[in-house]
Amino acid sequence: MPRVTRSCKTKTDTKENLAEPKKLTPKKRKSPEKSNSENSSSPKSACSNSLSPFRDQFASKLMLDTPECNKFRSARRALADNSDFNLPGREKEFEELSEYLNDIISREAYGSLYISGAPGTGKTATLLKIISMEKFMTKLSIGYVNCTSISTIGSIYKRICNELNLKLKSGSSEKDCLAALEHYLSSKHKMTLIILDEMDQLCSTGKKQDILYHIFELPAIPKSKLILVGIANALDLTDRLLVRLQSKCELKPKVMHFSAYTKAQIVEIFKNRFEESGVSDLFPPAAIQLLAAKVSAVSGDIRRALSIGKRVIELAELEKKKKCTKIDLSKLETLIEVDEKPPVEEPKVQLKEVVTVLNTVYGNAQTLSYDVDDSFPLLQKLLICTLLLIIKHDKNKNITVGRLHDVYKKVCKNRNINSIDLSEFLNLCLLVETHGIVRLTKKKEPRFHQVQLQWDEDEVYSALKDKQMITNVLNDKHLLSR
Ligand SMILES: Nc1ncnc2c1ncn2[C@@H]1O[C@H](COP(=O)(O)OP(=O)(O)OP(=O)(O)O)[C@@H](O)[C@H]1O
Ligand SMILES: [Mg+2]
Repeated sequence: MPRVTRSCKTKTDTKENLAEPKKLTPKKRKSPEKSNSENSSSPKSACSNSLSPFRDQFASKLMLDTPECNKFRSARRALADNSDFNLPGREKEFEELSEYLNDIISREAYGSLYISGAPGTGKTATLLKIISMEKFMTKLSIGYVNCTSISTIGSIYKRICNELNLKLKSGSSEKDCLAALEHYLSSKHKMTLIILDEMDQLCSTGKKQDILYHIFELPAIPKSKLILVGIANALDLTDRLLVRLQSKCELKPKVMHFSAYTKAQIVEIFKNRFEESGVSDLFPPAAIQLLAAKVSAVSGDIRRALSIGKRVIELAELEKKKKCTKIDLSKLETLIEVDEKPPVEEPKVQLKEVVTVLNTVYGNAQTLSYDVDDSFPLLQKLLICTLLLIIKHDKNKNITVGRLHDVYKKVCKNRNINSIDLSEFLNLCLLVETHGIVRLTKKKEPRFHQVQLQWDEDEVYSALKDKQMITNVLNDKHLLSR
């Protein structure tokens, strides 16, 4: 049975763990008149203060174990859970990939494939779904390596050997691991599939590139029966880095590109997830359309769309809870006496809640210049200038938080400004992200999070209102040396 480590980015939802509310026993009521006369100049405030814990408890009871609350919870889960969902919008890619694998398996041949696509376009999810199909599970030995999780490039062979359950002597060197792998591929074995996900991590210069070449050459070992699949964001990775492969016809990888999700596809994915979880009526179609229109216009990243959707639901739930605590007190008292719940409105996400979350995440295009205005803090300005510097003058456009931080420290030092450590820097990046200027694509380790500029240069110039600083930092090209 192949061991496939799923890399999908699941997030634990702490709110799912809310404790069950204690059973509320109706308490003896204080007379409101008495409270009023006792100790308050404002009868209204005295009344609500004395009942406040009582009312809050009741409101919690109303929210925590009701069908409405369960609905919010299921809807959040529907968007958070990564397993067992269909992948609408990826039918064509699913089909093409399955056929590619089927064809090689039926001929007991070999091949290599390079899948590219922006973050959140379903590359990993599609491939993992395919290899979890029984026909592939039974016919293939599968090794899945997420390259962000390997500490040094040299350890990749060891990881592949472990994934394929190859026996290694303790303390095996990189060379021993490679030899074991080559030996396995040239002796009798099952058809084998090796997947290198997030392969961008292995792509730089020198040794890393050599290892990458070598891995892509493995299928050519006689009788290797090896299918090698590399997944990364860059469109032209194989052209840029694996030119050697391109020149050898038999090693030229098949290239497949996953496009950003369109508005219609995002709508379909949301509908599908809600339908499968039985909560179709919580998120009205207009709200889904609005969310999908914005995300598809900016990036087409479904991971981002799902996380925004989750935040919208959390906000709607919060609003609902607030409403519950504002129940008319006289009605509440009657209801407590008869131990009944008040009639509740069907919970629904409101358009304004979608707008609120979208504005927090992306900033509001019309008010961007007001949002950031003159008060844009120095450290954030420097971060954005540093990002521009790397984008404009560094060869490697795959910018991680770690790389940005390294250059940022030098930019600060050059100006006698105290720089900050990586964790503070990460918070700074998140702050800048809330303006919608950059987008962070999360990886396992924060320093590998990818940073992408979301605005064009002109927008950045007009928002920062500090042409001088931008020009100065852009002149610091010498700070880019590693
Ligand atoms: N068509 C789809 N329908 C439903 N959910 C999807 C679909 N495509 C992707 N997802 C979900 O979106 C999330 C991101 O997808 P995935 O991890 O496959 O993106 P990716 O292209 O591999 O991104 P990255 O380049 O950052 O690794 C996952 O939780 C996945 O389950
Ligand atoms: Mg992926």
